[in-house]
Amino acid sequence: MLIAQLSDPHVRPDGVLYQDVVDSNAMFAAAIAHLHALDPQPDLVLLSGDLVDKGEAAEYANLRKLLDRLAIPALVIPGNHDDRDNFRQAFRDHAYLPASGPMHYAAGRHGDILIVALDVTLPGLHHGEIDEDSMLWLDGALSAEPQRPTILMMHQPPFDCGVPYLDLYHCRNGARLAEVIARHRQVERVVCGHVHRFMQLRFAGTVLCTAPSTTTAIALRLSPDAKPASHLEPPACLLHHWRPEVGLVTHLSQIGSFPGPYPFA
Ligand SMILES: [Fe+2]
Repeated sequence: MLIAQLSDPHVRPDGVLYQDVVDSNAMFAAAIAHLHALDPQPDLVLLSGDLVDKGEAAEYANLRKLLDRLAIPALVIPGNHDDRDNFRQAFRDHAYLPASGPMHYAAGRHGDILIVALDVTLPGLHHGEIDEDSMLWLDGALSAEPQRPTILMMHQPPFDCGVPYLDLYHCRNGARLAEVIARHRQVERVVCGHVHRFMQLRFAGTVLCTAPSTTTAIALRLSPDAKPASHLEPPACLLHHWRPEVGLVTHLSQIGSFPGPYPFA
């Protein structure tokens, strides 16, 4: 089973550039075309938040138009740039999304892997947080299928990555979250968005990784007084490849045209 993860496309209204610099809409369309060109194609696409940039209805209209091209089932969560009401309205045909409150869900119909989504966004704020109700919900969702290999998806990562302007807006209560996850050995991966970079670390006895954005890369600056910036690095996505005899292998797959192929391996 192959699961693609696209993150942080920051879609804008048709014809409008992201940050007046880059065509996030065309880049999201290119990301979808990239998935369609894979052999085999992914069985499922995870969209890990910041699907639009300003939470506007016109952005969601364009997002849905772009997603109409996607021929693979998709599961969505909001990010801090999404508007919960407009998001819910735009995805009202996605029956797995709860009708009110945080958009937590467990999507169990996708082959071997259970997808558990935890909505850690706080409307109007850029950092994330997990309250005790959400912890209880998560513990219950993971307790329901203890034998099922599971991917836990959330937007803001629950750790400090060392990039100071990213760590201001991480998901709070990470240590408490780690306590909950550590009780459930079937969690193969925690996958996040938000930081617009690929990162990985050991977390709660499992592997946590963050996805790059399909649009821009937030600058990798590890000095404590570094100032925020972004670059137009090659956009990329993650491919989580499940094989029961091996486990879950996560690939970074860059989107675009590159020289090659050459006849050496
Ligand atoms: Fe983002």
